[in-house]
Amino acid sequence: MTLSCLTYDPADPEVRRNPFPLYTRLQDEDPVHWSPALRAWVLTRYDDVRQVAMSESMSPDRLRPFYAQLKGERRELLAEVMRYLSLWMVFRDPPEHTRLRRLVGTVFNLKALEALADPVTRVVDQLLDALPTGQPVDWARQVAMPLPAYVILDLLAIPHSDFPDLKAWSDDLRAFIGSARADGDRYARARSGAAGLAGYFRTLIAARRAKPGEDFVSRMIAARDEQGTLSEDELVATCMLVLFAGHETTTHLLGNAVHALLTHPDQLQRLRDDPSLIDSAVEEFLRYDGPSNAIARVVAADHAIEGRQLKAGDRVFGMVNAANRDPRRFDAPQALDLARNPNRHLTFGFGLHFCMGAPLARLEAKLCISRLLQRFGRIERGVGEPEWIDALAMRGVCSLPIQLN
Ligand code: HEM
Repeated sequence: MTLSCLTYDPADPEVRRNPFPLYTRLQDEDPVHWSPALRAWVLTRYDDVRQVAMSESMSPDRLRPFYAQLKGERRELLAEVMRYLSLWMVFRDPPEHTRLRRLVGTVFNLKALEALADPVTRVVDQLLDALPTGQPVDWARQVAMPLPAYVILDLLAIPHSDFPDLKAWSDDLRAFIGSARADGDRYARARSGAAGLAGYFRTLIAARRAKPGEDFVSRMIAARDEQGTLSEDELVATCMLVLFAGHETTTHLLGNAVHALLTHPDQLQRLRDDPSLIDSAVEEFLRYDGPSNAIARVVAADHAIEGRQLKAGDRVFGMVNAANRDPRRFDAPQALDLARNPNRHLTFGFGLHFCMGAPLARLEAKLCISRLLQRFGRIERGVGEPEWIDALAMRGVCSLPIQLN
């Protein structure tokens, strides 16, 4: 096939199911690829993707330039979305990013996240207790989806019964932020998602201000009121970000991890035989088929990469899952090796925007996978194929049939 037929379109069902052969070809033949489907650059080599994440010539602030060129009804539809999303630290450059991240970091630190081990274990046990043996189980729907959601709700001290509303709003917002498709009504959906989440958190913040607790929201309010460095909208936006960033990515880590084990029975047995491998196993699940498919940036200043000229304003996707299997960086990259060391994958990003929730995601995966193996002597594929989500920024299964014994 000539270079001209080589094209990346994340909405292609075959690419959705298994993007890795295409990623290898892009790395070899067109590492800085222009995707007509995305109207963006698609970078697949490890060193280039790491540069995308950390380079000052790339900005995460892609929403405001996009919004600035919108007109009429679309602009109006997205006003409420922009009001909050433009305040998310993940879309900001310094100095705003530094200020937001510093304040959140005072509350959302390693110590606070480690204190979640008991609550996370409780949620894991509650969900695993409910799984039947010898009958079809959908791992994605019955465990991988609810687990991180309940954990994040516990962190925010929100009743689990509020989850259906929060999930529906979050999904509406995702149709705008991370989708590979230009759905006709995605702007209207994004508006209702942003308005729903913002309204919910505004009410919650007022209630916690009146009656503070020990939860993340109460501690953010206290830090904010003491330091006075965060506006009320920024507080609302940060709660939305934590809810949004904190559940779906981890869902896909848990789904993809079990899928990887089912398709590699030798590695499943290896982990059973040596449970002390669990920490390196989680790192390998993150690398081998991780949930963050791409990180997005906009070119801040003209520059060249691998001989291609990128112009200010161009959109760029650093394909994390491709980078994580780059043979220039990893030995035998296509193999799942639960004892792999070193394993410097890029799944949590790199540099200033490195994921703030990484310790929590690791904890959830470690507890969930180890307890799954302890409880069930046999874990096998069920009837039916896994269903992969239709998204560019993320990779994961929305249905994964399994059977347990
Ligand atoms: C397996 C699970 C997760 C993955 C793969 C993941 C991945 C990422 C990535 C790649 C970034 C950087 C994005 C960029 O550079 O544009 C990021 C940022 C972030 N993540 Fe996560 N994440 C996960 C779980 C979580 C959880 C559980 C939370 C919170 C409870 C969280 C909160 C955040 C926040 C607040 C940021 C923004 C950091 C910044 O901009 O400085 N993430 N995450």
